[in-house]
Amino acid sequence: MEKKSLFEKLFDKDGKKKIKSVNYISGKEIRRISRENRKITDALEKKRERKNVPESEYITYMKNPNNILEVDNLHTYFYTDIGVVKAVDGVSFDIPKGKTVGVVGESGCGKSVTSLSIMQLVQRPQGQTVAGEIRFDGGDKVYDIAKTPTEKMQEIRGNDISMIFQEPMTSLNPVFKIGDQINEVIELHNAQMSKEAVKERSIEMLKLVGIANPEGVYDNYPHELSGGMRQRVMIAMALACTPKLIIADEPTTALDVTIQAQIMDLLRNLKDKINSSIMLITHDLGVIAEMADYVVVMYAGRVIEKGTAQEVFHNPSHPYTVGLMESKPSSNKKVERLYSIPGSVPNPVNMPNYCYFKDRCNKAIKACEGPYPPLTFLSDTHAVACYRYMDNEEESNG
Ligand SMILES: Nc1ncnc2c1ncn2[C@@H]1O[C@H](COP(=O)(O)OP(=O)(O)OP(=O)(O)O)[C@@H](O)[C@H]1O
Ligand SMILES: [Mg+2]
Repeated sequence: MEKKSLFEKLFDKDGKKKIKSVNYISGKEIRRISRENRKITDALEKKRERKNVPESEYITYMKNPNNILEVDNLHTYFYTDIGVVKAVDGVSFDIPKGKTVGVVGESGCGKSVTSLSIMQLVQRPQGQTVAGEIRFDGGDKVYDIAKTPTEKMQEIRGNDISMIFQEPMTSLNPVFKIGDQINEVIELHNAQMSKEAVKERSIEMLKLVGIANPEGVYDNYPHELSGGMRQRVMIAMALACTPKLIIADEPTTALDVTIQAQIMDLLRNLKDKINSSIMLITHDLGVIAEMADYVVVMYAGRVIEKGTAQEVFHNPSHPYTVGLMESKPSSNKKVERLYSIPGSVPNPVNMPNYCYFKDRCNKAIKACEGPYPPLTFLSDTHAVACYRYMDNEEESNG
Protein backbone atom coordinates (compact mmCIF):
# COMPACT_ATOMS: atom_id res chain seq x y z
CA MET A 1 0.00 0.00 0.00
CA GLU A 2 1.38 3.37 -0.92
CA LYS A 3 2.31 5.63 1.94
CA LYS A 4 0.39 8.90 2.32
CA SER A 5 2.07 12.13 3.30
CA LEU A 6 0.74 14.05 6.29
CA PHE A 7 -0.71 16.61 3.89
CA GLU A 8 -2.66 13.92 2.07
CA LYS A 9 -3.92 12.52 5.34
CA LEU A 10 -5.20 15.89 6.53
CA PHE A 11 -6.45 17.43 3.27
CA ASP A 12 -8.42 16.04 0.34
CA LYS A 13 -7.67 16.56 -3.37
CA ASP A 14 -9.12 20.09 -3.39
CA GLY A 15 -7.01 21.11 -0.44
CA LYS A 16 -9.98 21.05 1.98
CA LYS A 17 -9.37 19.91 5.53
CA LYS A 18 -10.58 16.33 6.05
CA ILE A 19 -10.36 15.91 9.78
CA LYS A 20 -13.07 17.64 11.74
CA SER A 21 -12.17 18.90 15.16
CA VAL A 22 -13.81 17.18 18.12
CA ASN A 23 -15.90 20.25 18.84
CA TYR A 24 -16.97 20.71 15.22
CA ILE A 25 -20.72 21.01 14.62
CA SER A 26 -22.09 21.24 11.10
CA GLY A 27 -24.56 23.93 10.05
CA LYS A 28 -27.19 21.24 9.56
CA GLU A 29 -26.64 19.98 13.10
CA ILE A 30 -26.91 23.53 14.51
CA ARG A 31 -30.22 24.02 12.72
CA ARG A 32 -31.51 20.73 14.07
CA ILE A 33 -30.47 21.61 17.64
CA SER A 34 -31.97 25.06 17.40
CA ARG A 35 -35.28 23.61 16.08
CA GLU A 36 -35.40 21.22 19.01
CA ASN A 37 -34.52 23.98 21.47
CA ARG A 38 -37.32 26.15 20.10
CA LYS A 39 -39.82 23.37 20.67
CA ILE A 40 -38.77 23.01 24.30
CA THR A 41 -38.47 26.71 25.14
CA ASP A 42 -41.74 27.59 23.35
CA ALA A 43 -43.59 25.03 25.45
CA LEU A 44 -41.99 26.35 28.67
CA GLU A 45 -42.71 29.97 27.72
CA LYS A 46 -46.31 29.15 26.89
CA LYS A 47 -46.75 27.60 30.32
CA ARG A 48 -45.14 30.66 31.93
CA GLU A 49 -47.33 33.17 30.08
CA ARG A 50 -50.65 31.67 31.19
CA LYS A 51 -53.02 34.16 32.84
CA ASN A 52 -54.57 33.57 36.28
CA VAL A 53 -52.37 30.73 37.41
CA PRO A 54 -54.02 29.23 40.52
CA GLU A 55 -52.11 29.75 43.75
CA SER A 56 -52.10 26.02 44.37
CA GLU A 57 -49.45 25.73 41.64
CA TYR A 58 -46.90 27.88 43.40
CA ILE A 59 -47.82 28.24 47.08
CA THR A 60 -45.98 25.66 49.14
CA TYR A 61 -44.49 25.23 52.61
CA MET A 62 -40.98 25.31 54.04
CA LYS A 63 -39.32 22.02 54.98
CA ASN A 64 -37.76 23.87 57.92
CA PRO A 65 -39.47 27.05 59.21
CA ASN A 66 -36.11 28.44 60.39
CA ASN A 67 -35.07 28.88 56.76
CA ILE A 68 -35.86 31.93 54.66
CA LEU A 69 -34.96 30.13 51.42
CA GLU A 70 -34.65 26.49 50.42
CA VAL A 71 -33.15 25.70 47.02
CA ASP A 72 -34.07 22.12 46.28
CA ASN A 73 -32.64 20.18 43.34
CA LEU A 74 -32.60 23.25 41.10
CA HIS A 75 -31.90 22.76 37.39
CA THR A 76 -31.41 25.81 35.18
CA TYR A 77 -30.40 25.13 31.58
CA PHE A 78 -29.47 27.28 28.60
CA TYR A 79 -30.73 25.98 25.27
CA THR A 80 -27.93 27.16 22.96
CA ASP A 81 -27.22 26.35 19.32
CA ILE A 82 -24.33 24.09 20.25
CA GLY A 83 -26.36 22.13 22.78
CA VAL A 84 -27.86 22.35 26.24
CA VAL A 85 -25.64 24.07 28.82
CA LYS A 86 -26.56 22.62 32.20
CA ALA A 87 -25.43 25.72 34.09
CA VAL A 88 -27.15 24.62 37.31
CA ASP A 89 -27.71 20.89 37.52
CA GLY A 90 -29.33 19.72 40.73
CA VAL A 91 -28.27 22.33 43.28
CA SER A 92 -29.67 22.18 46.84
CA PHE A 93 -28.90 24.38 49.83
CA ASP A 94 -30.74 26.33 52.54
CA ILE A 95 -30.44 29.90 53.76
CA PRO A 96 -31.45 30.11 57.44
CA LYS A 97 -33.20 33.25 58.72
CA GLY A 98 -30.78 35.96 59.84
CA LYS A 99 -27.72 34.13 58.54
CA THR A 100 -25.19 34.67 55.77
CA VAL A 101 -24.54 31.88 53.31
CA GLY A 102 -21.39 32.16 51.21
CA VAL A 103 -21.30 30.57 47.76
CA VAL A 104 -17.87 29.90 46.28
CA GLY A 105 -16.54 28.15 43.20
CA GLU A 106 -14.51 28.59 40.06
CA SER A 107 -15.63 30.98 37.33
CA GLY A 108 -18.48 29.50 35.30
CA CYS A 109 -19.62 27.00 37.94
CA GLY A 110 -23.15 28.43 38.03
CA LYS A 111 -23.11 30.80 41.02
CA SER A 112 -24.67 33.73 39.17
CA VAL A 113 -27.16 31.53 37.34
CA THR A 114 -28.27 30.12 40.72
CA SER A 115 -28.82 33.63 42.09
CA LEU A 116 -30.55 34.81 38.90
CA SER A 117 -32.85 31.78 39.13
CA ILE A 118 -33.80 32.82 42.67
CA MET A 119 -34.66 36.29 41.32
CA GLN A 120 -36.35 34.86 38.19
CA LEU A 121 -33.96 36.96 36.12
CA VAL A 122 -32.35 34.24 34.00
CA GLN A 123 -32.12 35.33 30.38
CA ARG A 124 -35.21 33.90 28.72
CA PRO A 125 -36.24 32.22 26.51
CA GLN A 126 -32.97 30.32 26.10
CA GLY A 127 -32.35 30.18 29.85
CA GLN A 128 -34.97 28.15 31.73
CA THR A 129 -35.41 26.74 35.19
CA VAL A 130 -36.54 23.28 34.14
CA ALA A 131 -36.77 21.41 37.44
CA GLY A 132 -36.50 21.78 41.18
CA GLU A 133 -38.01 24.09 43.78
CA ILE A 134 -36.97 27.44 45.26
CA ARG A 135 -39.04 27.80 48.40
CA PHE A 136 -39.12 31.31 49.81
CA ASP A 137 -40.82 32.28 53.07
CA GLY A 138 -42.61 35.51 52.19
CA GLY A 139 -44.11 35.89 55.70
CA ASP A 140 -47.79 35.15 55.19
CA LYS A 141 -47.17 32.70 52.35
CA VAL A 142 -44.39 30.44 51.11
CA TYR A 143 -43.68 30.72 47.37
CA ASP A 144 -42.05 28.23 45.07
CA ILE A 145 -40.21 30.82 42.98
CA ALA A 146 -39.48 28.29 40.25
CA LYS A 147 -43.24 28.23 39.51
CA THR A 148 -44.37 31.68 40.65
CA PRO A 149 -45.91 33.75 37.82
CA THR A 150 -43.88 36.75 36.63
CA GLU A 151 -46.40 39.33 37.92
CA LYS A 152 -46.31 37.91 41.43
CA MET A 153 -42.54 37.69 41.27
CA GLN A 154 -42.33 41.42 40.51
CA GLU A 155 -43.86 42.07 43.94
CA ILE A 156 -41.44 39.73 45.68
CA ARG A 157 -38.41 41.12 43.88
CA GLY A 158 -37.29 44.32 45.56
CA ASN A 159 -39.88 44.01 48.34
CA ASP A 160 -38.73 40.75 49.86
CA ILE A 161 -35.60 39.75 47.95
CA SER A 162 -33.15 42.18 46.45
CA MET A 163 -29.92 41.80 44.61
CA ILE A 164 -26.63 43.69 44.55
CA PHE A 165 -24.75 43.15 41.31
CA GLN A 166 -21.06 43.00 40.60
CA GLU A 167 -20.70 46.14 38.49
CA PRO A 168 -22.75 49.06 39.85
CA MET A 169 -22.33 51.18 36.71
CA THR A 170 -24.28 48.67 34.64
CA SER A 171 -27.10 48.53 37.19
CA LEU A 172 -27.49 52.26 37.72
CA ASN A 173 -29.12 54.23 34.94
CA PRO A 174 -26.57 56.82 33.72
CA VAL A 175 -29.19 59.40 32.67
CA PHE A 176 -31.08 59.68 35.97
CA LYS A 177 -29.96 61.31 39.19
CA ILE A 178 -29.15 59.05 42.14
CA GLY A 179 -32.03 60.44 44.17
CA ASP A 180 -34.57 59.74 41.43
CA GLN A 181 -33.37 56.16 41.12
CA ILE A 182 -33.69 55.44 44.84
CA ASN A 183 -37.04 57.27 44.95
CA GLU A 184 -38.30 55.04 42.17
CA VAL A 185 -37.54 51.89 44.15
CA ILE A 186 -39.26 53.25 47.25
CA GLU A 187 -42.30 54.53 45.32
CA LEU A 188 -42.71 51.27 43.44
CA HIS A 189 -43.13 49.37 46.66
CA ASN A 190 -44.86 52.07 48.76
CA ALA A 191 -47.51 53.61 46.53
CA GLN A 192 -49.15 55.48 49.45
CA MET A 193 -46.07 57.48 50.46
CA SER A 194 -45.96 61.26 49.76
CA LYS A 195 -43.20 62.73 47.55
CA GLU A 196 -41.56 64.43 50.53
CA ALA A 197 -41.59 61.26 52.60
CA VAL A 198 -40.01 59.32 49.72
CA LYS A 199 -37.23 61.88 49.35
CA GLU A 200 -36.63 61.85 53.08
CA ARG A 201 -36.37 58.08 53.07
CA SER A 202 -33.94 58.13 50.11
CA ILE A 203 -31.65 60.56 51.89
CA GLU A 204 -31.92 58.49 55.05
CA MET A 205 -30.86 55.41 53.06
CA LEU A 206 -27.85 57.25 51.61
CA LYS A 207 -26.86 58.28 55.13
CA LEU A 208 -27.31 54.71 56.34
CA VAL A 209 -24.85 53.34 53.76
CA GLY A 210 -22.23 55.81 54.93
CA ILE A 211 -22.37 58.51 52.26
CA ALA A 212 -20.98 61.66 53.85
CA ASN A 213 -22.96 64.19 51.86
CA PRO A 214 -26.33 62.50 51.22
CA GLU A 215 -28.19 65.64 50.11
CA GLY A 216 -25.48 66.40 47.55
CA VAL A 217 -25.26 62.84 46.25
CA TYR A 218 -29.06 62.78 45.98
CA ASP A 219 -28.71 65.32 43.14
CA ASN A 220 -25.67 63.69 41.49
CA TYR A 221 -25.58 61.52 38.39
CA PRO A 222 -23.94 58.06 38.68
CA HIS A 223 -20.85 59.11 36.68
CA GLU A 224 -20.14 61.83 39.23
CA LEU A 225 -19.54 59.24 41.97
CA SER A 226 -16.59 56.96 42.67
CA GLY A 227 -16.92 53.19 42.31
CA GLY A 228 -17.16 52.71 46.06
CA MET A 229 -19.89 55.36 46.33
CA ARG A 230 -21.82 53.80 43.46
CA GLN A 231 -21.67 50.42 45.18
CA ARG A 232 -22.99 52.07 48.36
CA VAL A 233 -25.84 53.58 46.32
CA MET A 234 -26.60 50.11 44.95
CA ILE A 235 -26.72 48.77 48.49
CA ALA A 236 -28.99 51.67 49.53
CA MET A 237 -31.34 50.77 46.67
CA ALA A 238 -31.25 47.09 47.52
CA LEU A 239 -32.06 47.77 51.17
CA ALA A 240 -34.59 50.57 50.63
CA CYS A 241 -37.48 48.15 51.08
CA THR A 242 -35.99 46.16 53.98
CA PRO A 243 -35.82 42.86 52.09
CA LYS A 244 -35.91 39.53 53.90
CA LEU A 245 -33.13 38.21 51.68
CA ILE A 246 -30.25 40.08 50.08
CA ILE A 247 -28.36 38.40 47.25
CA ALA A 248 -24.93 39.94 46.74
CA ASP A 249 -23.14 38.65 43.63
CA GLU A 250 -19.47 39.61 43.92
CA PRO A 251 -20.48 42.94 45.48
CA THR A 252 -16.93 44.19 45.90
CA THR A 253 -14.95 42.63 43.05
CA ALA A 254 -14.68 45.96 41.23
CA LEU A 255 -13.43 47.83 44.29
CA ASP A 256 -10.08 48.20 46.01
CA VAL A 257 -9.32 46.26 49.17
CA THR A 258 -9.95 48.97 51.78
CA ILE A 259 -13.30 49.96 50.27
CA GLN A 260 -14.08 46.26 49.96
CA ALA A 261 -13.69 45.79 53.71
CA GLN A 262 -15.84 48.85 54.42
CA ILE A 263 -18.61 47.68 52.11
CA MET A 264 -18.59 44.21 53.69
CA ASP A 265 -18.81 45.71 57.19
CA LEU A 266 -21.63 47.89 56.03
CA LEU A 267 -23.50 44.96 54.53
CA ARG A 268 -23.11 42.94 57.72
CA ASN A 269 -24.27 45.76 59.98
CA LEU A 270 -27.25 46.62 57.80
CA LYS A 271 -28.25 43.00 57.59
CA ASP A 272 -28.42 42.80 61.38
CA LYS A 273 -30.24 46.11 61.58
CA ILE A 274 -33.05 45.03 59.27
CA ASN A 275 -32.80 41.40 60.38
CA SER A 276 -32.47 39.84 56.96
CA SER A 277 -30.38 37.04 55.45
CA ILE A 278 -27.60 37.25 52.89
CA MET A 279 -26.56 35.00 50.04
CA LEU A 280 -23.01 36.14 49.34
CA ILE A 281 -21.34 35.05 46.12
CA THR A 282 -17.62 35.61 45.87
CA HIS A 283 -14.30 34.21 44.68
CA ASP A 284 -12.70 35.55 47.81
CA LEU A 285 -12.42 32.90 50.52
CA GLY A 286 -11.17 35.56 52.96
CA VAL A 287 -14.46 37.43 52.62
CA ILE A 288 -16.40 34.20 53.09
CA ALA A 289 -14.40 33.30 56.21
CA GLU A 290 -15.18 36.68 57.71
CA MET A 291 -18.82 37.02 56.72
CA ALA A 292 -20.43 33.64 56.25
CA ASP A 293 -22.16 31.37 58.76
CA TYR A 294 -22.57 28.65 56.14
CA VAL A 295 -20.58 27.85 53.00
CA VAL A 296 -21.71 26.22 49.75
CA VAL A 297 -18.96 25.10 47.36
CA MET A 298 -20.03 24.70 43.73
CA TYR A 299 -18.27 22.97 40.88
CA ALA A 300 -19.53 22.66 37.30
CA GLY A 301 -23.18 23.37 38.12
CA ARG A 302 -23.37 21.22 41.23
CA VAL A 303 -22.84 21.55 44.96
CA ILE A 304 -19.82 19.44 45.85
CA GLU A 305 -19.56 20.42 49.51
CA LYS A 306 -21.60 22.43 52.00
CA GLY A 307 -21.59 22.99 55.73
CA THR A 308 -21.10 25.56 58.44
CA ALA A 309 -18.18 27.91 57.80
CA GLN A 310 -16.38 26.19 60.69
CA GLU A 311 -16.79 22.76 59.09
CA VAL A 312 -15.79 23.78 55.59
CA PHE A 313 -12.78 25.84 56.68
CA HIS A 314 -11.46 23.53 59.37
CA ASN A 315 -12.34 20.24 57.77
CA PRO A 316 -12.50 20.79 53.99
CA SER A 317 -13.34 17.35 52.64
CA HIS A 318 -13.85 17.43 48.88
CA PRO A 319 -10.48 17.40 47.06
CA TYR A 320 -11.65 20.51 45.17
CA THR A 321 -12.40 22.40 48.40
CA VAL A 322 -9.04 21.29 49.77
CA GLY A 323 -7.43 22.69 46.61
CA LEU A 324 -9.36 25.96 46.99
CA MET A 325 -8.16 26.33 50.58
CA GLU A 326 -4.59 25.69 49.49
CA SER A 327 -4.81 28.28 46.77
CA LYS A 328 -5.87 30.91 49.32
CA PRO A 329 -3.07 33.28 50.33
CA SER A 330 -2.41 33.23 54.04
CA SER A 331 -0.40 35.65 56.17
CA ASN A 332 1.04 33.04 58.54
CA LYS A 333 2.29 30.63 55.89
CA LYS A 334 5.41 31.18 53.81
CA VAL A 335 5.13 29.66 50.35
CA GLU A 336 7.21 29.94 47.19
CA ARG A 337 4.20 29.95 44.99
CA LEU A 338 0.45 29.69 45.60
CA TYR A 339 -1.11 26.33 44.83
CA SER A 340 -3.34 26.21 41.80
CA ILE A 341 -5.66 23.35 40.92
CA PRO A 342 -4.40 21.77 37.70
CA GLY A 343 -6.65 21.33 34.65
CA SER A 344 -9.93 23.05 33.90
CA VAL A 345 -13.67 22.57 34.24
CA PRO A 346 -15.16 20.07 31.72
CA ASN A 347 -17.07 21.34 28.68
CA PRO A 348 -20.52 22.35 30.02
CA VAL A 349 -22.34 20.94 26.98
CA ASN A 350 -20.80 17.50 27.25
CA MET A 351 -20.41 16.64 30.89
CA PRO A 352 -18.86 13.25 31.67
CA ASN A 353 -21.03 10.60 33.32
CA TYR A 354 -18.66 10.24 36.28
CA CYS A 355 -17.54 12.73 38.94
CA TYR A 356 -16.88 16.04 37.12
CA PHE A 357 -13.76 16.64 39.17
CA LYS A 358 -12.20 13.20 38.64
CA ASP A 359 -9.95 14.22 35.75
CA ARG A 360 -8.35 16.93 37.89
CA CYS A 361 -8.34 15.04 41.14
CA ASN A 362 -5.13 13.79 42.69
CA LYS A 363 -6.97 11.64 45.21
CA ALA A 364 -9.19 9.64 42.84
CA ILE A 365 -9.87 6.01 43.77
CA LYS A 366 -11.31 3.07 41.84
CA ALA A 367 -14.91 3.93 42.86
CA CYS A 368 -14.57 7.32 41.14
CA GLU A 369 -15.10 5.62 37.79
CA GLY A 370 -18.70 5.01 38.84
CA PRO A 371 -21.60 7.42 38.22
CA TYR A 372 -21.60 10.97 39.64
CA PRO A 373 -21.32 10.60 43.45
CA PRO A 374 -24.32 11.50 45.65
CA LEU A 375 -23.93 13.72 48.73
CA THR A 376 -22.60 11.98 51.83
CA PHE A 377 -23.35 13.61 55.18
CA LEU A 378 -20.37 13.88 57.53
CA SER A 379 -22.51 15.67 60.15
CA ASP A 380 -26.08 17.06 60.22
CA THR A 381 -24.89 20.12 58.34
CA HIS A 382 -21.71 19.02 56.54
CA ALA A 383 -22.17 17.17 53.23
CA VAL A 384 -19.75 16.24 50.48
CA ALA A 385 -20.18 14.63 47.02
CA CYS A 386 -17.14 12.36 46.88
CA TYR A 387 -16.62 8.59 46.77
CA ARG A 388 -13.83 8.76 49.31
CA TYR A 389 -16.45 9.30 52.05
CA MET A 390 -18.88 6.69 50.83
CA ASP A 391 -17.26 3.51 52.10
CA ASN A 392 -20.33 2.30 53.97
CA GLU A 393 -23.92 2.52 52.83
CA GLU A 394 -25.38 3.82 56.13
CA GLU A 395 -23.34 6.99 55.87
CA SER A 396 -24.54 7.94 52.43
CA ASN A 397 -27.63 9.97 51.93
CA GLY A 398 -29.21 11.77 48.98
N1 LIG B 1 -27.13 33.69 28.79
C1 LIG B 1 -26.40 32.57 28.73
N2 LIG B 1 -26.42 31.78 27.64
C2 LIG B 1 -25.70 30.63 27.60
N3 LIG B 1 -24.95 30.18 28.60
C3 LIG B 1 -24.87 30.91 29.71
C4 LIG B 1 -25.60 32.15 29.85
N4 LIG B 1 -25.33 32.67 31.08
C5 LIG B 1 -24.50 31.81 31.68
N5 LIG B 1 -24.22 30.75 30.88
C6 LIG B 1 -23.36 29.61 31.20
O1 LIG B 1 -23.72 29.09 32.45
C7 LIG B 1 -22.59 28.66 33.18
C8 LIG B 1 -22.57 29.27 34.55
O2 LIG B 1 -22.39 30.66 34.46
P1 LIG B 1 -22.40 31.63 35.72
O3 LIG B 1 -22.49 33.01 35.20
O4 LIG B 1 -23.44 31.21 36.69
O5 LIG B 1 -20.97 31.38 36.36
P2 LIG B 1 -20.38 31.99 37.71
O6 LIG B 1 -20.17 30.85 38.64
O7 LIG B 1 -21.23 33.10 38.19
O8 LIG B 1 -18.96 32.51 37.22
P3 LIG B 1 -18.16 33.86 37.61
O9 LIG B 1 -17.47 33.52 38.89
O10 LIG B 1 -17.22 34.03 36.48
O11 LIG B 1 -19.14 34.97 37.74
C9 LIG B 1 -21.38 29.02 32.32
O12 LIG B 1 -20.96 27.85 31.65
C10 LIG B 1 -21.92 30.03 31.35
O13 LIG B 1 -21.24 29.94 30.12
MG1 LIG C 1 -20.97 35.21 38.28
